Amino acid sequence: MLVATAAAATALAASPTATAAPQPIVGGTTTTTAAYPFVMQITDASGSQFCGGTLVAPRKVVTAAHCMVGETTSSVRVVGGRTNLNGTDGTVSKVGKIWVNPAYHDATDGDDVAVLTLATSMPYKPAPYVTPSQTGLYASGTTARILGWGTTSENGSSSNQLRTATVPIVSDSGCKSSYGSDFVQSDMVCAGYTSGGVDTCQGDSGGPLLIGGVLAGITSWGEGCAEAGYPGVYTRLTTFSDLVTAQVGS
Ligand code: ARG
Repeated sequence: MLVATAAAATALAASPTATAAPQPIVGGTTTTTAAYPFVMQITDASGSQFCGGTLVAPRKVVTAAHCMVGETTSSVRVVGGRTNLNGTDGTVSKVGKIWVNPAYHDATDGDDVAVLTLATSMPYKPAPYVTPSQTGLYASGTTARILGWGTTSENGSSSNQLRTATVPIVSDSGCKSSYGSDFVQSDMVCAGYTSGGVDTCQGDSGGPLLIGGVLAGITSWGEGCAEAGYPGVYTRLTTFSDLVTAQVGS
């Protein structure tokens, strides 16, 4: 697994004009929560999904701080094991506590991380998440996996079925040239093809960016979706790993 990831990363890094693979999120393919059991829907009290999240312990879900703006423990639910938005299967949990990174103001200022404590345990295998020292995972060209139920085109409609795609990590200098001072290197990491075409989009926020099967980022923001020259921006989870661990243990 690590060998394959490193080989893929090397191949992409050696190809500066890498273009999106012809995959039919934006781009990507349908998948299931059986394949990715730690991917959670975050819904309102009536069951409408508006963000994603990642189960990192039976009662702990990592999501984006911006997903929790205006929310309370009574306004949100977490749904696991439900591949389709219109399904009734899986497990629904109420939320007992919402921790939002106290430094959070706006996604483009960074600090976009929150941890939900569930009222009931999810019977699904949690995902491992990065340790603070695993910053090497963000090497330019590394293959990362994105997942969500968000819109499949900019200004498009959401996907009923969970989708996934892979995107290469973009260098910090490359992301800075796209986004200028909105790119906060300590708190963010970018991923996408130079030519666009594959990206997270509205409704994918809070969901996972996985590198080698490890939660390494949180879908946060971007200029439009899948536009050439504007990669997706993800929370750089190594920076917040200790804060997450404090919540997971609380
Ligand atoms: N902010 C969006 C959300 O709340 C996610 C946007 C991601 N955009 C992108 N181009 N990758 O769902």
